[in-house]
Amino acid sequence: MENIIEFKNVYNHFQDNVILKDANFSIERGEIFGILGASGSGKTTLLRNMLMLLPPAQGTIKVLGENIYECSQQQEAYLRSRFGVLFQSGALFGSLTVLENVMFPLREFTDLPKEFCRELALIKINMAGLPVAAADKYPSELSGGMIKRAATARATILDPEILFLDEPTSGLDPESREEFNDLIIQLHESLKLTVVMVSHDVASVEEIANRAAFLGEGKVLVVGRVDEVKNTDHPLIRNYFKAYSHLG
Ligand SMILES: Nc1ncnc2c1ncn2[C@@H]1O[C@H](COP(=O)(O)OP(=O)(O)OP(=O)(O)O)[C@@H](O)[C@H]1O
Ligand SMILES: [Mg+2]
Repeated sequence: MENIIEFKNVYNHFQDNVILKDANFSIERGEIFGILGASGSGKTTLLRNMLMLLPPAQGTIKVLGENIYECSQQQEAYLRSRFGVLFQSGALFGSLTVLENVMFPLREFTDLPKEFCRELALIKINMAGLPVAAADKYPSELSGGMIKRAATARATILDPEILFLDEPTSGLDPESREEFNDLIIQLHESLKLTVVMVSHDVASVEEIANRAAFLGEGKVLVVGRVDEVKNTDHPLIRNYFKAYSHLG
């Protein structure tokens, strides 16, 4: 198995506030990996580490074999083009239509002709389960579930190798949540993606992830198969699964 992401002795802190101590774990190519932990436990911070948005205070992080905070600007740009990201908030640009949003990375990262970008974007919009009519709508005209789908179409437009999702199902009703999970499973298969998913929604993580890490007490408390994480004998983990399992 190839490690697509590797954390070695990683520490995160903001001033005196230590968020993460000595994290060591790997994510394998092709898996769906969940990141769990209470609000404020450092999940988004960990994701920002992986996305080259926040260097750790100490330690090394490799993504796709590169030490991401020591690579050249050129390598960094290349790595970015191999990532797809669904951020926790502000999933879409409000002033652009769905089609324009989905086309955006193509316009930014490629020199492909506009008409070609349009066609590619329409294919991805369709793959994300949105009707063609949604392409010309603005985000304010869409439901929460449709926004997540459009943002997923945008995140996968460059055929990334890794798709990062930060709380993708938050704010969705149970039916939309189930449909969104199905979409991720489908895209994971058809695009051969590695998926890194931060989520409070343990039912979704149990449903779609192979393995997960649980953050708590400023550490990665456990990494393993989701059922192993769930059955870890630690009060924080037991309480967490009890508190959030109702979401599914
Ligand atoms: N830029 C920053 N400056 C200072 N402190 C920060 C910064 N970003 C995050 N923090 C702090 O780091 C901790 C972890 O934040 P983070 O957003 O990673 O948590 P989270 O697990 O994603 O939470 P949630 O589930 O609510 O999204 C919090 O205490 C937060 O206040
Ligand atoms: Mg967060």
